[in-house]
Amino acid sequence: MNVLIVTESCFGNTSRVADAVAAGLRSTGARVTVAEAAAAPALDGVDLLLVGAPTHNMGLPGPASRRQAAMKGGSPAATGVTEWLDRLPAGFVGRAATFDTVTGTGFFSGSAAKGIQKRLRRHRVEVVARASFVVKATEGPLADGELDRARLWGAGLA
Ligand SMILES: Cc1cc2nc3c(=O)[nH]c(=O)nc-3n(C[C@H](O)[C@H](O)[C@H](O)COP(=O)(O)O)c2cc1C
Repeated sequence: MNVLIVTESCFGNTSRVADAVAAGLRSTGARVTVAEAAAAPALDGVDLLLVGAPTHNMGLPGPASRRQAAMKGGSPAATGVTEWLDRLPAGFVGRAATFDTVTGTGFFSGSAAKGIQKRLRRHRVEVVARASFVVKATEGPLADGELDRARLWGAGLA
């Protein structure tokens, strides 16, 4: 199975989750590429697409929230998952799953993964799973056990 994980990260936490999910998938024999959204390869031959982002202002990062992240000491790329999804070509027939990082788990924390799911569905992409992973503060680190959970979640997706 060919898996592409497209992600963005301002402080490194979502990237660490992406790498842990990739490790879980690889443990089942999947071939996995992890790519920053701005440098993501084409979807040719991809069976399972994973898209992950940090939750910003209850949803997906955008130019303004990335500037806010930079002011807090983060290193956002100029563009990310939001812009990548806007350019997603029609006709991807594989399955997809989405993930995010959040500082809280209640309704009021919001979820970038939900926003990603909505956009993928608008492109008629089937989303089979969604997960959120908790960071202890805006800049991280991830809460205890979250990387292990990400690895298990990845293995389960295969
Ligand atoms: C501008 C901004 C807005 C944020 N808004 C939310 C939010 O609405 N809900 C939430 O749970 N976390 C929020 N956070 C915290 C981020 O989710 C956290 O910084 C992120 O998960 C860290 O991942 P990263 O290291 O990959 O950037 C926000 C962070 C920033 C910088």
